[in-house]
Amino acid sequence: MIRLQKYLADAGIASRRKVEVLIADGKVTVNGEVVRELGVKIDPLKDKVKYNGKIVLVDKRQVIYVFNKPLGVLSAASDERGRKVIPDYFPKDHRLFPVGRLDINTEGLILVTNDGELTYRLTHPKYEIDKVYEVIADGPLSYEKKNELERGCDIGPYEISGSRIRLIKREGNGYHYVVTIHEGKNRQVRQMFEYAGLHIKKLKRVAIGEIRLSNLPVGKHRELSKAERIYLKKVLR
Ligand code: URA
Repeated sequence: MIRLQKYLADAGIASRRKVEVLIADGKVTVNGEVVRELGVKIDPLKDKVKYNGKIVLVDKRQVIYVFNKPLGVLSAASDERGRKVIPDYFPKDHRLFPVGRLDINTEGLILVTNDGELTYRLTHPKYEIDKVYEVIADGPLSYEKKNELERGCDIGPYEISGSRIRLIKREGNGYHYVVTIHEGKNRQVRQMFEYAGLHIKKLKRVAIGEIRLSNLPVGKHRELSKAERIYLKKVLR
């Protein structure tokens, strides 16, 4: 017996958090009856679960991809306004969704999976996995602002708990930084530079923990390697 929300998340209907909303909204039936309570357990071999009237089968093989998101692509499973979304870049044999979010104007590494449970856990703040970004800003960070951002401070919309910032080079009026954060607050890297009075001209995520983008071309994906799977298992313990 497993909990209904876990079954739906495993089937790739949505992340566990979103699945709970779908259940509460009465979109899910078990053996023909609408179930709105959370915590109901089902027997996957006997019970017939439907979402929006369609039978839900668990896609047994867990897939996790590293994807190099192009600019202009929405970090979502689908879009009502018809904009390009991440699953558009994949074959249609699994129901896939991105783990967390990159802004539409941010490119680079995002994990994509059919495992709603994994998404739920990886985006949970308690795991504090490092995320590494390459930034091109329109000016240099002052010594004081860099220190504040590294120590952690209130940047206006919210507090950040600390970061690592390295200046790599200057090219014309572009200042190239590598920034490591372990939270994932809304537009966090952009907000950090805005707090310092700067604008980010280019933002690219290049690593999540030990998972690196390396030379994966823009718009392409690869499956997680065995070593990367073991790493994820270890950090999510
Ligand atoms: N920080 C941002 O500002 N944008 C992203 O997409 C990710 C981190």
